[in-house]
Amino acid sequence: MKRNLPKKDRPDTSPNTAAMSDALTSWYLENRRPLPWRASQDPYRIWISEIMLQQTTVQAVIPYYERFLKAFPTVKDLAQAPLEKVLEMWSGLGYYSRARNLHKAAQLFAEKGFPKTAAELTEFPGLGPYTSRAVSSIAFEEKVGVLDGNVIRILSRVHNLAVEHWKPAGRDVLQTHADALAQVDKPSDLNQAMMELGATVCTTHSPTCLLCPWKTSCKSLEANTHQTLPLKKPRAEGEIWVWQPEIMMQKNRVALVQNPDMPFLKGQWVFPGKISRVKKKPETFDLKHGITHHDIYIQIKKASAKERQKLDVQTAKGVQWCEVGSLSSVNPSILLKKVLSHLPS
Ligand code: ADE
Repeated sequence: MKRNLPKKDRPDTSPNTAAMSDALTSWYLENRRPLPWRASQDPYRIWISEIMLQQTTVQAVIPYYERFLKAFPTVKDLAQAPLEKVLEMWSGLGYYSRARNLHKAAQLFAEKGFPKTAAELTEFPGLGPYTSRAVSSIAFEEKVGVLDGNVIRILSRVHNLAVEHWKPAGRDVLQTHADALAQVDKPSDLNQAMMELGATVCTTHSPTCLLCPWKTSCKSLEANTHQTLPLKKPRAEGEIWVWQPEIMMQKNRVALVQNPDMPFLKGQWVFPGKISRVKKKPETFDLKHGITHHDIYIQIKKASAKERQKLDVQTAKGVQWCEVGSLSSVNPSILLKKVLSHLPS
């Protein structure tokens, strides 16, 4: 190990590891759910599923996944599609930067081919250590472990490790365990088995330990600590923001600008208006919206004639008049639609 860990936190990669991998894989082959991305080992399909599964649950992802693959059946189709179409097919999943990265990476994959190892995959936009390892192990049987929320929970429990998994030293401990378990003939099954166990048996609340293939080796079940593991990451301080969008309509078009001061929806087309960070929630507001740790209180302004004139002057400097009906293809965030539906009459 690179870092000096206390003895109790040092990974135990004992011979029992191989037996644990076998027990888990057998359980998976009997109990796995028939999910659409499990029907093949096509790296493109697996990559798309992994990016979508970072956003939400398996059940919520399925319709988006099917819609997306119908629109873009191959990496070439995705690479050649206009970004607006990709964003539209992503709408509802949130975090649009993921869709932008998906599009950029697809163009590189279409040109250079799909790399087979996690080390190479991490060079591409939007592919962090988790996604790269998931794709290389599931599509190409590379013997690398994956560490997502489910796997962190299972490994913290089975080895009874109170590690700070949000810090590099804590992640290293768990990654070493995950890698040790993945030294099998079919790491694709082993890694998906870990995800499956976390999603269906070793759940955050009320795990069903009686059904677990690892119940006899689970150290936290023995020590009765399974309800308190994994450790909880201390919550980031929330930020409070007030946004005063000015809604300027011209027939059925609305004015959008690329607001450089917004810490969320960075660089995207939004309604013009003032944005400021405040200490307390304002007394009056029209609606509230949350993006990651930002609480946004929105005070909608219908622009006065003077403000409209000001914007007309700015027209040459990056104002876009967008048809209300096409808003979601310019900016798919639900926030803009929410603001328009709250417009004072
Ligand atoms: N969560 C992340 N990747 C997954 C996969 N391949 N199957 C099920 N759940 C997942």
